[in-house]
Amino acid sequence: MEDKLVQIQNEFEQDIVQINTRDTLEACKIKFLGRKGQLSQIFKDLSNVPKDKKPLLGQKINKLKIKIQSELDKKEKQLGQGIDKSNTGDMDITLPSVKKELGSAHPLTLVIDEICNLFIEMGFLIVEGPEIETEYYNFEALNIPLEHPSREAFDTFYLHKNYLLRSHTSPVQIRYIEKNKPPVQILVPGKVYRPDATDASHSYMFNQIEGLLIDKGITLAHLKGVLSVFAKKLFGPKTKTRFRPHFFPFTEPSAEMDVSCTACSGKGCRVCGQNGWLEILGAGMVHPAVLKAGKINSKEYSGFAFGMGVERIAMLKYGVDDIRLFFENDLRFIKQFG
Ligand code: PHE
Repeated sequence: MEDKLVQIQNEFEQDIVQINTRDTLEACKIKFLGRKGQLSQIFKDLSNVPKDKKPLLGQKINKLKIKIQSELDKKEKQLGQGIDKSNTGDMDITLPSVKKELGSAHPLTLVIDEICNLFIEMGFLIVEGPEIETEYYNFEALNIPLEHPSREAFDTFYLHKNYLLRSHTSPVQIRYIEKNKPPVQILVPGKVYRPDATDASHSYMFNQIEGLLIDKGITLAHLKGVLSVFAKKLFGPKTKTRFRPHFFPFTEPSAEMDVSCTACSGKGCRVCGQNGWLEILGAGMVHPAVLKAGKINSKEYSGFAFGMGVERIAMLKYGVDDIRLFFENDLRFIKQFG
């Protein structure tokens, strides 16, 4: 019996040093401490031992059991730590994390926001309209009859039936005054479409910002005042403006507004074609036919409207010489404005 105990102890000591995985640890536990394990067996054998030897032998078996149990516990702990170690081994916690890149607003968005804010300061309300329009809103209601040659100036992408991609933001003038009575003071940013061949200064899609102000007693002086303040705020306080007569079917009289060249301050350079001025928008007094389309009495009310191209203004403001850069979305270009 005593020999048997020594034998078990030796065997255990040989086994324990070879344990290096949880599986071998488990097998060892079963082998020595399991219900049919070596120690259970020897406890059973104890019943055949003479009475006087039982207590001492029983104690010895118990001692060995406790020793085996504690050795196995120790081993289990070591293995546990080993597993943790191998985990951090796979995962290099000193490696820099994946950098989160902060985005920035697109240069056109910056210019649109800036212009909108300047007009909000002057009391304008920002309004938007649909990009898919009808001939009525894009042309007829704006006093551009079907056969009128000025339709060509607003060359248009036609969709099915009488739908089209709006060629300017002016249709929103009509949509707004159909539903809102004067005083009206709105600013309308949005995309417009024209089947132009793409080059450094043309794109089939671009952005416009439209303005409309209608109230009692509005004159050309208000138009000039508001747009001159706008030009100075956008391009700097020394900016000069001039108004050249022009034609638009939906305004009468109509004008184009020039600003003193942003590159040479009016001296004459390559940007302004040596003449010192840059055209930046079209404007005029709202035509009575347009007021009529909104059921506004033109004897009681008058107003002015204007429209500008955002890309052109952004190009002047940032010294960009090719409109296509705005749409190619090359991050090297776009990131310069953030
Ligand atoms: N809609 C005109 C254009 O696209 C611009 C404009 C708007 C002119 C309002 C006068 C008044 O060219």
